[in-house]
Amino acid sequence: MNSLAKELNDVLEGTLVAQLLSDYGQRMYFPKGIISQSAEAKQKAHTYNATIGIATEKGDAMCIPSMLAKFTNDLSKNEIFPYAPTAGEPLLRKLWLKEMIKKNPSMAGKQTSLPVVTSGLTHAISIAASLFVEKGHSIIVPDMYWGNYNLIFTEQREAKQISFPLFAQGQLNIEGLASTIDAIEEPHVAMILNFPNNPTGYTPTQTEAHNLVSMLTEKAEQGKKLLIFTDDAYFGLFFEEDVCRESLFSLLCDAHENILAIKGDAATKEEMVWGFRIGFLTYNNKGMTEAQYEALVKKTMGAIRGSVSSCSKPAQSILMKGMESGSYHTEKEAGIQRISQRYHLIKTTLDKYKGNAYLTPLPFNSGYFMAFVCAGDAEKLRMHLLDTYGVGAISIKNTFLRLAFSSTNLEEIEDLLRIVHQAAKEVFATP
Ligand SMILES: Cc1ncc(COP(=O)(O)O)c(C=O)c1O
Repeated sequence: MNSLAKELNDVLEGTLVAQLLSDYGQRMYFPKGIISQSAEAKQKAHTYNATIGIATEKGDAMCIPSMLAKFTNDLSKNEIFPYAPTAGEPLLRKLWLKEMIKKNPSMAGKQTSLPVVTSGLTHAISIAASLFVEKGHSIIVPDMYWGNYNLIFTEQREAKQISFPLFAQGQLNIEGLASTIDAIEEPHVAMILNFPNNPTGYTPTQTEAHNLVSMLTEKAEQGKKLLIFTDDAYFGLFFEEDVCRESLFSLLCDAHENILAIKGDAATKEEMVWGFRIGFLTYNNKGMTEAQYEALVKKTMGAIRGSVSSCSKPAQSILMKGMESGSYHTEKEAGIQRISQRYHLIKTTLDKYKGNAYLTPLPFNSGYFMAFVCAGDAEKLRMHLLDTYGVGAISIKNTFLRLAFSSTNLEEIEDLLRIVHQAAKEVFATP
């Protein structure tokens, strides 16, 4: 049991609650990860706060103006107040699929389920896990991953997270994933792959994506039954020419009868509507019929019905109308460009620190974040940054320090990196 859960159980000892908690209830805790580090930064990071996993500009949330416009006009009572259908608004589901195919040309002509609306991507992952991940079974998760997987896979589903290093010699570790798949002797092999990755900000290059898909298809051909969940939270934030701009899901569509690909994505970051809580689940398995997709969607609907019942109606109405507005694509692209500028400035600034003894950047080319491997305790560095410089960053596994350029203004980036390197020297240099 997680030590934080034990602490909570100790506090509750002797109460009726302690006697009544289920196994899951006893295992539950609130992690001291990103959320609690961000809360600390909110109080103390008066200089720069590079913890936040949203996109901000001068302290305000960024947004696509067409979405904001829908708050002030255009919505009827019936677009705001009633329940939304369990699987989501039919028009939004069709629109999301249409956009998905536009963004992922490899999907053209391939059959998938219609996307099902969930209450954010966290809910999508949780729903998919409840449908497909069995107690005691394994799920492969790269060593650099979003910490919330722990609550979903380990605590909620009681599955075993099997880790492999995401990188080998500065490149995507396809071999490592292949041997991890080989080592699992269960009826099927489940994995979750998240690109652009949180916390590293890495997306496979086109060559790596091609090789990854070939490897997975080869395993399927050898008889492995693969459940591949793609967490596409940061889809579309690609900043280098050689980056694969399609979701791994689209490359896996119809790749093999032994591959069930599940795309988890969300309006959350793609449409800059973090608080709307709109995510989607889309399925593909080569050879599945329309009726079979519909049956799987019904099961998904059952899981939604039994958890949140249905998702936010006004959020879906605004999203749909915003996406249909004539200027939506241009406005969205403008937002991506502004984040891209920050990315490029981080890259050029980091060139000046090449070979730094205390901080080594992990490969990054996309998304919201970049992460350093620290030459000492990353948590110590995080606290020093916060207490001495008023700078908020996220420490991971006491080894990595994550910076969110999504929430750092362009003109702050050089100074942020200067402070982080200065602080690292102060904490890690031996006297
Ligand atoms: C990798 C990853 N997946 C999923 C999510 C969850 O997204 P949502 O806010 O839509 O639940 C996040 C959010 O930070 C994330 O970083």
